[in-house]
Amino acid sequence: MLEARHISFGYDALKAVDDVSLAFAFDRITALIGPNGAGKTTLFNLLAGALKPQSGEILLAGEALTPLPPHAIFQRGLARTFQIPRPFGQLSVLENLLVAADETPGERFYDGWLRGGAVKRRERQLTERARELLDFVTLDHLADEPARTLSGGQQKLLELARILMKEPRMILLDEPAAGVNPALLQVIVERIEKIHARGIGFVIIEHNIDLVTRICDPIVVMAEGRVLVEGSAETVRNDPRVIDAYLGDAP
Ligand SMILES: Nc1ncnc2c1ncn2[C@@H]1O[C@H](COP(=O)(O)OP(=O)(O)OP(=O)(O)O)[C@@H](O)[C@H]1O
Ligand SMILES: [Mg+2]
Repeated sequence: MLEARHISFGYDALKAVDDVSLAFAFDRITALIGPNGAGKTTLFNLLAGALKPQSGEILLAGEALTPLPPHAIFQRGLARTFQIPRPFGQLSVLENLLVAADETPGERFYDGWLRGGAVKRRERQLTERARELLDFVTLDHLADEPARTLSGGQQKLLELARILMKEPRMILLDEPAAGVNPALLQVIVERIEKIHARGIGFVIIEHNIDLVTRICDPIVVMAEGRVLVEGSAETVRNDPRVIDAYLGDAP
């Protein structure tokens, strides 16, 4: 499992994540919900190493992640997508996946030493895997298009394919349904369930309550940097503190 123990992070005076302790199991699709500004994305940034907690620690399968830089955490099997997708816009959709596979420092150095055959074989294997993944996320027909021409929903699918180049153990998705049309949303939901069936855990930040109640259990609710409630959809729905947190956010 992925575990946060008493982690805190503040931007100046504002405590964006305030003494959060949570355990996310590999055999679950956990939802992380809460009003805007609750600290959800900040928590993902802490888990994935983009931000370092000011106190507390983070463990993946019992191993401390807190001291590691983001690429090392990715190598250990914790992958994340961004609330706003960040593809390499000028590269093709296929090239975006090949770049992800090459993110290990030193790999290019060794490539220079390996003679023709081995490099070519490896490139062929990576390209084959990338094409399979593009097929899996229904983007195969767009493989040679520049990534910047994709719709918002297609960019979310591209991100999912990109992190699958590495066989992660746990995937953090930041708002996979935001700006996605219903047909593409159905594709995203099915792909998440298929990946999960292979034993990969998910934590999903999502405002789309339909997606959350369909595929997520348990649900964790954050507000003002803290964990408010965690439990089944039923538990969360009937908790007056959750209703208060959302209504307090209304203009
Ligand atoms: N780079 C930053 N500098 C200063 N404050 C920030 C920064 N990023 C986030 N915050 C603040 O930290 C708090 C938590 O923000 P965060 O983005 O984690 O919330 P969220 O739950 O992901 O919200 P949303 O649902 O809108 O994405 C908010 O008050 C936000 O304004
Ligand atoms: Mg956010």
